[in-house]
Amino acid sequence: MSQPNIVLNVNGIEVIYNHVILVLKGVSLQVPEGGIVALLGGNGAGKTTTLRAISNLLKAERGDVTKGSIELRGERIENLSPADLVKRGVVQVMEGRHCFAHLTIEENLMTGSYTRADKGEVAANLDKVYTYFPRLKTRRASQAAYTSGGEQQMCAIGRALMTNPNLVLLDEPSMGLAPQIVEEVFHIVKDLNTKEKVTFLLAEQNTNMALKYADYGYIMESGRIMMDGKAQDLANNSDVKEFYLGVGGDGRKSFRDVKSYKRRKRWLA
Ligand SMILES: Nc1ncnc2c1ncn2[C@@H]1O[C@H](COP(=O)(O)OP(=O)(O)OP(=O)(O)O)[C@@H](O)[C@H]1O
Ligand SMILES: [Mg+2]
Repeated sequence: MSQPNIVLNVNGIEVIYNHVILVLKGVSLQVPEGGIVALLGGNGAGKTTTLRAISNLLKAERGDVTKGSIELRGERIENLSPADLVKRGVVQVMEGRHCFAHLTIEENLMTGSYTRADKGEVAANLDKVYTYFPRLKTRRASQAAYTSGGEQQMCAIGRALMTNPNLVLLDEPSMGLAPQIVEEVFHIVKDLNTKEKVTFLLAEQNTNMALKYADYGYIMESGRIMMDGKAQDLANNSDVKEFYLGVGGDGRKSFRDVKSYKRRKRWLA
């Protein structure tokens, strides 16, 4: 990619699971340095698969990128391990939060810095996370299992920040959270973007909220990008309004509820 301000360039990727199931059918997107880009779409559209392809977490799911390329500031990254990507400043916050239930919030945060040797830097980083997430500071000694869904989402983002990233792939931060908490989380994301210059690629079903905070959006359906544009233009687009913003929410809400129920079950198991 020649444009210097493009941090991530995904170019026509196809992803196949289990050698047969074609899930991404030529996805292209770009993330500019310092931006917040939203990847939108309903259940099963391919958002998580796209993020996993970028962070190279597909292998664990028996998925492969079979076509196309992914470049980070012009460097091909398809063959880099997730750990190598973290060294280059790319980190993914997984869907469903995945905090360690039996560790405290602070212990969870510290797991994000295990590759870093400089104790002083790590302590400064922890302080910084606490300034953005004062709730985590209050709950630092609490076992994650006993914290709220919002605090767990904040913990997952905070842990990613402990790797000192410049590109965060954030998978459905709003999932299963009350609207007020979603707003709080997005507000912090925006703050991190503005003040710390962290770039975000954000997968979301919550189109409304994502477009409120993102600069640019891509809308996915069945493994393809259907539309893209400036966040404000998408929010005002009549098709987007009809299909993604105007939907009464009932159908989607029930999907969301089912998902968060399943996750809660997994969490408690
Ligand atoms: N490990 C897997 N093996 C086979 N198929 C998979 C696997 N993971 C996802 N899929 C399929 O890939 C498609 C895209 O799924 P993906 O999880 O990427 O969608 P999504 O947009 O993140 O959806 P959601 O909003 O529900 O999280 C779906 O049809 C899903 O069933
Ligand atoms: Mg997903």
